[in-house]
Amino acid sequence: MRYLLGLDVGTTGAKALLIDQAGKPVADGTCEYPLLTPRAGWAEQHPQQWWEATARAISAVVSQSSLPPGDIAAVGLTGQMHGSVFLDDEDQVIRPAILWCDQRTAEQCRWITDTVGAETIVAETCNPVLTGFQAPKIIWLRDHEPQNYARLARVLLPKDYIRLKLTDEYATDVSDASGTSLLNVPRRQWSQAMLDGLQLDERLLPRVYESPEVTGRITPEAAAATGLAVGTPVIAGAGDQAAGGVGNGVVASGSVSVTTGTSGVVFAYLDQPITDSQLRTHTFCHAVPGSWHVMGVMLAAGGSLRWLRDALCAAETALAADMGVDPYELMTAQAAKVAPGADGLLFLPYLTGERCPYADPDARGVFFGLNLTHGKPHLIRAVLEGVTYGLRDCFELIRNMGVQFSSVRLSGGGARSDLWRHIQADILRHEVCTVVGDHGAAYGAALLAAVAAGVYPTVRDAVDATISTVHTVTPDPTHSDVYDGYYAAYRRLYGALRAEFTSLAELM
Ligand code: XUL
Repeated sequence: MRYLLGLDVGTTGAKALLIDQAGKPVADGTCEYPLLTPRAGWAEQHPQQWWEATARAISAVVSQSSLPPGDIAAVGLTGQMHGSVFLDDEDQVIRPAILWCDQRTAEQCRWITDTVGAETIVAETCNPVLTGFQAPKIIWLRDHEPQNYARLARVLLPKDYIRLKLTDEYATDVSDASGTSLLNVPRRQWSQAMLDGLQLDERLLPRVYESPEVTGRITPEAAAATGLAVGTPVIAGAGDQAAGGVGNGVVASGSVSVTTGTSGVVFAYLDQPITDSQLRTHTFCHAVPGSWHVMGVMLAAGGSLRWLRDALCAAETALAADMGVDPYELMTAQAAKVAPGADGLLFLPYLTGERCPYADPDARGVFFGLNLTHGKPHLIRAVLEGVTYGLRDCFELIRNMGVQFSSVRLSGGGARSDLWRHIQADILRHEVCTVVGDHGAAYGAALLAAVAAGVYPTVRDAVDATISTVHTVTPDPTHSDVYDGYYAAYRRLYGALRAEFTSLAELM
């Protein structure tokens, strides 16, 4: 029997997942690290903490499995997308990494768009330049920290920094590179037009591979830190959304996934790199060679619920620790007592600005319609519903692009709660199901590693052999009608508040 290791360098922690060649999980481990917000709208992490957490998670999994490390046939990498790790010519990290949900680069996005031209940008990258993407962060460094920019020799995405630590190689994959604004997405190679337009040297960037290709092997130093065998192949892998797409079995037309991690993502497979007419969704390369995907990304989905837990649910968190359960279970149990529509309380989930459907770094969270009858259960229910209205925005955009699908697969935190599964079915007005096990992006990365190791000939074969669904929920039409009314109000609220969000940002 051969084994495959998937590694996910996420926003809240690093996860290692070991599966056998039939796709059965045999061990997993997670190590958390903090998210730094030195200013409102900024989000940073220390790459060294990613590495320490990843090495600990791998060591835990290797020892838990009691397998000889040589039985691990390949390692697949995935992780949070778009982040920038700035390295000097000795591979030292120059400053904390700037993350996908950081909103500091609005001015650089405008400058890039004016300098290169919107038409060229869309023809090359299939997307507008957005604040979370990587290129505007490089320009921000050039504009605001010239002393750091002068030392810059290399820029890597988060999982690719871990690859450097594991293999000593600079490499990335087409799906993660799609979120840099520097990749020619139709051709799946770095865009000379973007690099020239921004006066950036291609030597700053790693080599680009297709997701199931081998990019290097575990070095003796990495073996000592992790317990892996020297020489184990490490594959290109994928950004967390494309790897999640593989893990959810979205590798051909006909199904979409809705994933609620810190972000919330509606994800669909594409044969061709088509785009939304107003570029409100992202068109990126998929981890399946020769294919693409479209996705709508909201920035604070599970992130909104986590905020509520930390801000208002200390009692539930303490009680959950005593009971040995997840605090979200106690929170959703309270929300289940409130009727659909939260008795007129609406929540806009724009806590860290928004990306889809509104690319607006100044947007902020709102509770609307509070009255004296509302208590904490209403706030919790309003957050679950508000996040799901945001997912419906993304869902509608993808449907309106003409993407055909019959199956909707839920994954992440939103798939674990029975209440939230029903809220999603009702608000999306579509039957939903969950992938068995729902091991997310790390599982997708491990399946990509299985293809590289020759266990399966293609990514689709790997998915066919390993993935099935459970927990089918059909929408309740009475609830859907109630939600339709509130969804219309939710959409009008952003329109009414858009200018106020900008004024508030100016005041701050
Ligand atoms: C995708 C995105 C997020 C991050 C963090 O475009 O920004 O999903 O990858 O998970």
